[in-house]
Amino acid sequence: MTWIDTHAHLDDPRFAADLPAALARAAAAGVARVLTIGVDLATSRAAVRLAEAYPQLAAVVGIQPNHAAEAAPGDFEQVVELARHPRVVAVGETGLDRHWDRAPFALQLDFFAKHLALARACGKPVVVHCREAEADVVEALRADFAAHGPVAGVMHSFSGDAATAVACVGLGLHVSFAGMLTYKTAESVRAAAKAVPLDRLLVETDSPYLAPVPMRGKRNEPAFVAHTGAALAGVVGVSVADLAAATTANARRLFGLPPDA
Ligand code: NI
Repeated sequence: MTWIDTHAHLDDPRFAADLPAALARAAAAGVARVLTIGVDLATSRAAVRLAEAYPQLAAVVGIQPNHAAEAAPGDFEQVVELARHPRVVAVGETGLDRHWDRAPFALQLDFFAKHLALARACGKPVVVHCREAEADVVEALRADFAAHGPVAGVMHSFSGDAATAVACVGLGLHVSFAGMLTYKTAESVRAAAKAVPLDRLLVETDSPYLAPVPMRGKRNEPAFVAHTGAALAGVVGVSVADLAAATTANARRLFGLPPDA
């Protein structure tokens, strides 16, 4: 079986001591490719450096909504430059977050629109972060797509309900599930997964955060994506092999990944 971890923060200091070993464990678990993603200019640069250093990695660059307020003038323009790098396969993470409320909402909306425009301009998909802002994200995407045309992309680490998942699929987006799907209390996340067609599902770890059961509590790492994939297969009612094949094909198509690492 082959998996693709579509969202990991491999620049995180928690990988500084053992990244090559973690990537070897991922390969042994069948993880052919990992997308490593930035949340600000510095981590976006780090993602590109990692993707240059390791052939099985690809980079995603952007300024995450919780980091929008601390972005210096000119940071986004440098993300625009980075987005054209051949090892960069998507723009993000971007979106809206009402949970942490670390940046004024109007500023988050402004950055979200700028990332969507960038994705459109460079012909790469967008990776959307959404935390307790589901209605806002759907509304922002709808308005933006109506005005400027649709952008391909993914709702990452989906934590909304089934109706939101259906709305996102209706907008042409993919929906990616992380470790939360495996948590006992996350019944609404599993209901959302059931509402997504197999050809729009993706899996991710969001490493180093929120490891799936049975690794919950440990530092998350790309090898663990297979646990989330197995749980997702059970939720949507297909074999683990079929779920792995579908999510891997979906990731390769969405992000334009070559068939082998
Ligand atoms: Ni993330």
